[in-house]
Amino acid sequence: MTPYSPDPDWWKSATGYQIYPRSFACSNGDGIGDIPGIIGKLDYLADLGIGFIWLSPVFSSPQADNGYDISDYQDIAPEFGTLADMDRLILEAKARGIGIVMDLVVNHSSDEHHWFRSALQGREVPYRDFYIWRDPVNGGAPNDQQSYFGGSAWEYDRASGQFYLHLFDKKQPDLNWQNPSLRRAIYQMMNWWLDRGIAGFRMDVIDLIGKDPDAQIFADAPDLHPFLREMHEATLKGRNVVTVGEAWSATPAGALLYSGRDAGELSMVFQFEHVSQQWDPVIGKWAPKPFDLVALKRVFNRWQAATAQDGWNSLFWGNHDLPRAVSKYGDGSEDSAKMLAIVLHLMKGTPYIYQGEEIGMTNAAFSAITQFRDVETVNFYAIRTAKGMDPQAFIQGANENGRDNARTPMQWTSGTQAGFTTGTPWIEVNPNHTAINAKAAQSKPDGVFATYKSLAHLRKSHPIIVAGTYTPLLEYHPKVVAYLRKHQGQCLAVIANFTGDPVTFDPNLTLQGDSLIATHTARTALNGPLTLAPHEAFAILG
Ligand code: GLC
Repeated sequence: MTPYSPDPDWWKSATGYQIYPRSFACSNGDGIGDIPGIIGKLDYLADLGIGFIWLSPVFSSPQADNGYDISDYQDIAPEFGTLADMDRLILEAKARGIGIVMDLVVNHSSDEHHWFRSALQGREVPYRDFYIWRDPVNGGAPNDQQSYFGGSAWEYDRASGQFYLHLFDKKQPDLNWQNPSLRRAIYQMMNWWLDRGIAGFRMDVIDLIGKDPDAQIFADAPDLHPFLREMHEATLKGRNVVTVGEAWSATPAGALLYSGRDAGELSMVFQFEHVSQQWDPVIGKWAPKPFDLVALKRVFNRWQAATAQDGWNSLFWGNHDLPRAVSKYGDGSEDSAKMLAIVLHLMKGTPYIYQGEEIGMTNAAFSAITQFRDVETVNFYAIRTAKGMDPQAFIQGANENGRDNARTPMQWTSGTQAGFTTGTPWIEVNPNHTAINAKAAQSKPDGVFATYKSLAHLRKSHPIIVAGTYTPLLEYHPKVVAYLRKHQGQCLAVIANFTGDPVTFDPNLTLQGDSLIATHTARTALNGPLTLAPHEAFAILG
């Protein structure tokens, strides 16, 4: 299904693809990816079989957080192109049956947005209340709330003698969703984009908009769902679009509040339980925990169960904030990349591919802080090393979990700068592009690209992948992922060796059928004990 079919559930059988525009394809040699660059790669994406692109922000922005700091929601940053380029992208994608999902970053704006500039003019100006201002307490910040990017979440404005809230960088002041005029302005802007023909929105840190800063409740605050329902009524209702909310706080118990069929809010959320269960509970992602497959499966299984009758899941291994899947969950090898794709895409939900994942791109291996570009990494390096952390230990953590891993340029060819730009890229190209690149990947009949392509096409022709029930198997096996999908008398068994060692076990399952997909040799039957090669994965449809 495509976004342009009348089916209101088109996004259930579609595969999403995230583009981080800065690092995707540069058309003009300035070292920064751009919209014409994306247009030039639409045939590649159509070949892969995706249904929609989630486009990370391309709006006007001083780029303090690579576009997640927007200074004009209704214009395009010059380094990415023009509004005319954007309209052309929407049309050219549509011609290939691909929808464009824009990134809605409305928890905060840039401090260079005209709303904030006006707000700085004094306590009495109308836009003042579009942001969150508080008086000092005992001469200091109103409370000890910390920013997600390090340091206090309150910034002092000397001219007015008040602090403003910024849960991210100080160049990302939080918008005050309690103000009805602000909400109306956002809904108007959303409708303006929807009327231009986009296929929906990915909503940045949307679980924070209901915040009650005085009670220090930020995520999942009481006003969150009323605001989302109001937004739906004002913008999305009656439109055949997809919406996915980024919600780090989402739990299986709360999932249906967002995506239940009567919720009147969103199509689905991105939840992050499978990501954060591998971080140190106190120090967070800079101190990764050893990988635990049983814990990972428990998270997936809980989410599958929570959305079994109602609601919908998004399925993803990576994005622009996370390490590369094949490095985090695999061992960097092609076989592990293919296994990860099969395990994820055959669960129930809409799968998302993060650019480069479909060719097996790996983490960066930076050795000095000067190679990093990400505001979060750079800030925390300063904070943690000032507190005595060994700089090399920090860099090791950043190489495992830092956000720049996913932001190195897309590897198109084995040539200069991986074919990403004719100039100097804004962040270094991974030297392994000589071996890992789209051109090589596309020419391998059984490679990573072919696997992703098969999966994207299979979900369009096999309703069992979209609608089948999900039953986990071997939940406590430390090396194997296995589950069953069932639909209208059919049964799909998905079995994978998550490790780099051979594994022998008994799935306790008898099934005869056809091979749907396989990393190694095709398998058509299950009966008794089984030995899998390292990272072998397969699916049998019986
Ligand atoms: C989201 C984005 C991330 C950004 C942050 C603030 O988590 O994915 O890249 O830094 O929100 O907008």
